[in-house]
Amino acid sequence: MTSSQPQGTALVTGASSGIGAIYAQRLAARGFDLLLVDRDDQQLEASVIKLRNEHGIQVEVIKADLIQKDHVLKIEQRLRSDSSITLLVNNAGVGADGLLANADLDQLEQLIQLNVTTVTRLASAAAFGFGKAGRGTIINLGSAVSLIPERFNATYSASKAYVLSLTQSLNAELAGTGVKVQAVLPGVIRTGIWERAGLDLDQIPATMVMDAGEMVDAALSGLDQGELITIPSLSNAGEWDAFVAARLVMAPNLSKSTAASRYMK
Ligand SMILES: NC(=O)c1ccc[n+]([C@@H]2O[C@H](COP(=O)([O-])OP(=O)(O)OC[C@H]3O[C@@H](n4cnc5c(N)ncnc54)[C@H](OP(=O)(O)O)[C@@H]3O)[C@@H](O)[C@H]2O)c1
Repeated sequence: MTSSQPQGTALVTGASSGIGAIYAQRLAARGFDLLLVDRDDQQLEASVIKLRNEHGIQVEVIKADLIQKDHVLKIEQRLRSDSSITLLVNNAGVGADGLLANADLDQLEQLIQLNVTTVTRLASAAAFGFGKAGRGTIINLGSAVSLIPERFNATYSASKAYVLSLTQSLNAELAGTGVKVQAVLPGVIRTGIWERAGLDLDQIPATMVMDAGEMVDAALSGLDQGELITIPSLSNAGEWDAFVAARLVMAPNLSKSTAASRYMK
């Protein structure tokens, strides 16, 4: 979809490569001005010129290392106060490999900082700014591994389960405010995140690996269709609906004044 309507500004974190770089391209084609956040602004220079020239949009780059609190505060402040921002793509994230028992805990702490703490702080700031304006969209990059944590690294899967839960709760909190929320749960996507985490993408069957362009196009289509949760490769959307329904069946029984009879001996 392309648009000549003014769309406001999309703030994309982790925009220099992978999925974030594709979001930047696709949102530029939809007529959004861009506020691109990454820790290495040099990497973005060439794509900024291209985006400006090809789409005639405004592109600003903010250099920020999103595991450093003072850098994150700068972005939060912008989200709270800049009324031109209408979309947040909470994308920057890192992967991990290996067993929790053998993990480099300082590295895992940084993963949690970026994938959980920063995502939360930026979503909160955007919810505040967008709520005040009565419009806006928050897209959080989760992962399909949040639904199958047994098959992947513990901390990464847990960080993405957090993103899913955060998005579902935030959506309920923002009901009626005019602010839209979406979590995107991609499967395996061909980007540099794998190599950076010490994983070999070539070990994964090619039938399970999607290109980032196809993934982002599907995610934006899901957003256009009003989906709260988008799983780009899931053909039968009814499977997700059945999963949510099965969870909600338990809802009336999750908190009661008495323990279940099987625990009362
Ligand atoms: N690829 C997949 O298979 C897959 C699947 C499901 C979900 N996801 C999620 O999708 C999102 C994007 O992943 P990707 O595959 O596009 O990863 P990627 O290719 O590694 O790109 C990650 C981006 O985040 C930036 N970034 C990393 N650490 C940062 C920091 N401390 N501060 C600021 N920016 C930082 C990177 O910038 P630098 O160049 O400076 O490092 C890069 O631009 C992540 O949240 C990831 O968990 C990916």
